[in-house]
Amino acid sequence: MMKVANLLVAFALLALASSFVTAHDPGPLQDFCVGINDADAAVVVNGKFCKNPSFATIEDFTYSGLNVPGNTSNQLRVHVNLITADVMPGLNTLGISLARIDLEPNGGLNPPHYHPRGSEVLLVLEGTLYAGFVTSNPDHRLYSKILKQGDLIVYPTGLIHFQFNVGKTPAVAIAAFTSQNPGVNTVSNAIFGANWPINPEVLVTAFHMDRKLVEDLQTQDWVNPTE
Ligand SMILES: *[C@@H]1O[C@H](CO)[C@@H](O)[C@H](O)[C@H]1NC(C)=O
Repeated sequence: MMKVANLLVAFALLALASSFVTAHDPGPLQDFCVGINDADAAVVVNGKFCKNPSFATIEDFTYSGLNVPGNTSNQLRVHVNLITADVMPGLNTLGISLARIDLEPNGGLNPPHYHPRGSEVLLVLEGTLYAGFVTSNPDHRLYSKILKQGDLIVYPTGLIHFQFNVGKTPAVAIAAFTSQNPGVNTVSNAIFGANWPINPEVLVTAFHMDRKLVEDLQTQDWVNPTE
């Protein structure tokens, strides 16, 4: 009898856990819903505008150009080409998207950031990357590793993570996301590049920095790696 009760508790916990696991982009409930802005040429399915399925073309489901390196001429020496459902309308409702990341040799950096709406798995195609993520409060445990060609790392949803090219050659990585639009929040940009600027006293106290340094950081340009 006790065993059955234990089993029921385990089952209930599992059911509860799976309701969290699926709390991401919705299931499509139809073959596809190619995103469209023109309401007149659309049907509404699952609460969104979808292109009338009989007007969908292969162009809605394909994208070309990820063979081309991004322009890394910026202070971070990185470029991220993020292909969301905005870029590739056929991704709409499917809960997936993808990015190409280029990092210059000797220090190109995809700076600490997080995706509010998706987990990420990253594959190194070329080069050597120091990659890691940090767990949330209270542990802030760093999981990191030097990744080489063919290596993968998974970044759980919402956790701060980064890639740093520690090799002497350019690095290229492909990242896949569990969202059609995972969102990006670059920590330094959000904190020091906020628009309007955060009251410096907040940052003085939060970051244990003197006011002059805070104000200096707030006047700097903060590169958006996806632009
Ligand atoms: C790369 O970006 C830099 C800075 O925005 C710009 O000056 C340069 O023309 C770009 N290069 C190419 C090949 O587009």
